[in-house]
Amino acid sequence: MKEAGIGILGFGTIGQGVARILTQRANVIQLRNGRPFTLEKIYCRNFQDKDLKGLPVEYFTNNPKELLNADNIDTVVELIGGTEIAYSLVQQALQNGKNVVTANKALIATHGEELLVLANEKKVKLLFEASVAGSIPILRILREHFCAGEILKITGILNGTCNYLLSELEKGGSTFEQVLKEAQRLGYAEADSSFDTEGYDAAQKLSILASCAFGIRLPDWKEIPRSGISELLLDDFVFAERIGKRIRLLGKAEMTEHGLFAGVHPRLVGANSEIGKVVGAENMLFIEDEFESPLRLSGSGAGSLPTAMSVLADLGECARGKDSSPFFSFHRRKECVFAPRNQIKKEAYVRIQIQDQVGIVARVADAFAKKNISLLGIFHNQSHTTIAFLLYEAPITDIEEAVEIISHFDFVVGKPLLLSVES
Ligand SMILES: NC(=O)c1ccc[n+]([C@@H]2O[C@H](COP(=O)([O-])OP(=O)(O)OC[C@H]3O[C@@H](n4cnc5c(N)ncnc54)[C@H](OP(=O)(O)O)[C@@H]3O)[C@@H](O)[C@H]2O)c1
Repeated sequence: MKEAGIGILGFGTIGQGVARILTQRANVIQLRNGRPFTLEKIYCRNFQDKDLKGLPVEYFTNNPKELLNADNIDTVVELIGGTEIAYSLVQQALQNGKNVVTANKALIATHGEELLVLANEKKVKLLFEASVAGSIPILRILREHFCAGEILKITGILNGTCNYLLSELEKGGSTFEQVLKEAQRLGYAEADSSFDTEGYDAAQKLSILASCAFGIRLPDWKEIPRSGISELLLDDFVFAERIGKRIRLLGKAEMTEHGLFAGVHPRLVGANSEIGKVVGAENMLFIEDEFESPLRLSGSGAGSLPTAMSVLADLGECARGKDSSPFFSFHRRKECVFAPRNQIKKEAYVRIQIQDQVGIVARVADAFAKKNISLLGIFHNQSHTTIAFLLYEAPITDIEEAVEIISHFDFVVGKPLLLSVES
């Protein structure tokens, strides 16, 4: 029985988890996959100065070519991250006829299309389960479980850092800056957390999900409408609670007759809904297809061993030489066409900060009325410096135009906040 030779690029959080499972669970892996996996080499640029976590020094090299050119390595695991060195090393690995497994959403969302073409030409696999939702086997489920019906929609919490921050903020008493500092201390947020908090990370994951769910070429993740959570005020959480809602950063992708609707935004969701009850750094996903009631998946969106498990599952697929579903094969995938946004209708929440004046509510209500948008409710804080308006369902582009007009009123301070409200 031929051994599956594995090389790992990068020995950080996930690289160490994968190396640990590969070396400590060799028997189970062989039993489950019908083939032994052998960890041959780990590329770590400064391994001499690192804690090697009990692994023999012979495993390590600071020359990636020792993996990329090795005859005894048939699968390379990329766990460096980013789109620079990781991109060129993955390209070389595929060029050299090696399967590649990666956890790198930035790489796949940015260069995935081109790398998939190369993998297809070289007749090797490029698998990236761990790049979306950590331990949740969402891409495998999209490929293998939904084999009869059309997938209609995917909704989910795709960023554990934001979910942790939101669920801490809704407890009250702490500002965004205070909660973020604590998240950084606990290791839930990076020193520069803006990639997470501004929704970029979730947009990259959503583009990968949409491609796998709808059999389309990877949408350009930068074209996915996106907003983050850093502009939320404590008053927003108080107003949300008053109407039985919570705020969650949701990624949504839906295929319609007009094309793909996709977006990453904070939204108001029912406090007692399944997605509203997700607290801490968890991820949760709902997949709707034409036959099943929504399938719900939840689990750790990050972390060394949970994410390593998704990498191991991809390694198993490479070792077993299983073909992916033809629906997802490169040649079948269709171009991604984004749907025009004026097709979207939403109930919405609009919050403004104000300098108190007479007639504010009447002027704001009039701005909405001019777009045929009716008010469902109005809230204000005790000091009357923040007012929020709950709106009946209306085309999102009309709501945005009204909010743009309101943002120029002389009593408005700062930028208004617009959130859609989930039923
Ligand atoms: N952490 C998670 O929970 C998680 C979850 C899902 C997916 N992912 C993805 O998994 C990948 C790895 O993440 P991670 O958390 O393991 O990152 P990490 O802890 O920062 O580890 C990255 C590794 O790559 C090495 N590296 C970084 N830049 C390099 C360069 N220019 N040249 C050579 N080596 C370089 C680092 O070496 P040094 O130690 O010398 O810096 C380190 O060994 C990323 O794509 C990430 O998005 C992570």
